[in-house]
Amino acid sequence: MQNAASSALVVAGWHRMSYSFKDSYFISQELETHIRKLHAIVGNAVTDKRFIVFGAGSTQLLNAAVHALSPDNSSSPARVVASIPFYPLYELQTEYFQSVDFQFQGDTSLWKNSSDTSVNLIEFVTAPNNPDGQMNKAVLRGPNAKAIYDHAYYWPHYTPITAPADKPLMIFTTSKLTGHAGSRFG
Ligand SMILES: Cc1ncc(COP(=O)(O)O)c(C=O)c1O
Repeated sequence: MQNAASSALVVAGWHRMSYSFKDSYFISQELETHIRKLHAIVGNAVTDKRFIVFGAGSTQLLNAAVHALSPDNSSSPARVVASIPFYPLYELQTEYFQSVDFQFQGDTSLWKNSSDTSVNLIEFVTAPNNPDGQMNKAVLRGPNAKAIYDHAYYWPHYTPITAPADKPLMIFTTSKLTGHAGSRFG
């Protein structure tokens, strides 16, 4: 605070406001390279041949993932579930959007033995889990079950990194990596 002027950082309003970075300078290719490098050094995620998607915190990405995995079919909305005890925002945010394409349905175990293959299921798998730190694994199987792996806490200062996470859809955030929750970067 004593050096406010000399430490000020000015970001132009147009800077990085784009969906693309190839052949343009809007979103930083350098940033993506560093994210891949960070995961490689820590050994907590496979990023080869994966897309990196940025979000306003992982909160935004959690619902972007639900939206992306839901069928565009209001007569058969996706059922979104998580294993109790789960991070309450999954339920709050899924309900908040009042979407016709997805609905929060509570505890994963209620759907474990479902034989109804017409139901699309989206399971939040939180490892380590908030609030109990368990290394949760996906419970639901079958062609209509998709998982969103929330690895917000899969960093060595929270848990041993036993192997790089290698799932189709994995979410990380600077909130829990460095405590930069206010920067809103997932
Ligand atoms: C398991 C889990 N996922 C996601 C988040 C959201 O973090 P952020 O939106 O700051 O990235 C939190 C925050 O507490 C969390 O505990």
